[in-house]
Amino acid sequence: MNLVFLGPPGAGKGTVAVKISEELGIPHISTGDLFRKAIKDQTELGKKVKSILDSGELVPDDVTVALVQERLNQDDTKKAFILDGFPRTSPQAEALDTITDLDTAVNFSVADEVLIDRLSGRRVCKNCGATYHVKFAAPIKEGICDSCGGKLYTRQDDAPEAIKNRLEVYYRQTQPLIDYYQKKGIKTDIDAAGSPDQVLTATLKALRA
Ligand code: AP5
Ligand code: MG
Repeated sequence: MNLVFLGPPGAGKGTVAVKISEELGIPHISTGDLFRKAIKDQTELGKKVKSILDSGELVPDDVTVALVQERLNQDDTKKAFILDGFPRTSPQAEALDTITDLDTAVNFSVADEVLIDRLSGRRVCKNCGATYHVKFAAPIKEGICDSCGGKLYTRQDDAPEAIKNRLEVYYRQTQPLIDYYQKKGIKTDIDAAGSPDQVLTATLKALRA
């Protein structure tokens, strides 16, 4: 099952993808996570993209497509994968069509006020990358990751100015892909306004249908 997760920043793509990946045993590929890992490891790629991620702009298509192509060449993706946060532009979607076939594009939608609330309260583990929220998914001990004991931090692009920019970038560059996959007949819509469990259940139901 080859899946693409579409949706604005903060829609919960990553939260659902982690669960579906565990539930169905398929690899979860988040381009945002791959870029953040490169930044943390201070690789050439990381140095190139740090300021872009911090501002909420998009990394150039050629760089992003090359990264995804390399990841999809690995054996674990041969039977199935979840692409979370890719494609995000029309050229990326067209490039992906030349790399592999897709079964479903899941489109998560949520109102902007809710997105802003989710992003501004998000906390991420510095060590293992697990995602929390100060109100909606709080860790047992404030500031500490439940799974590995790592310190939680606020992503630089979850600052108010960067959130505003990311939403604008989304509406301008990524939203048109909803139509692209609609026309291909592989789009399924998920109302992502409910609780994490509700969104997960709705997504699994749609994928099994
Ligand atoms: P990326 O990491 O993909 O960020 P994003 O798309 O902006 O999406 P987010 O990760 O912010 O949101 P999400 O939908 O995963 O929400 P989450 O589950 O965390 O990309 C970062 C940057 O990398 C981009 O800005 C760009 O620079 C670059 N990049 C990445 N891909 C690229 C590409 N293809 N091309 C070019 N550049 C690219 O949830 C958010 C919060 O809400 C969490 O705190 C969570 O606990 C909470 N939450 C989740 N679900 C619920 C719920 N149902 N109810 C209540 N709270 C919830
Ligand atoms: Mg994410």
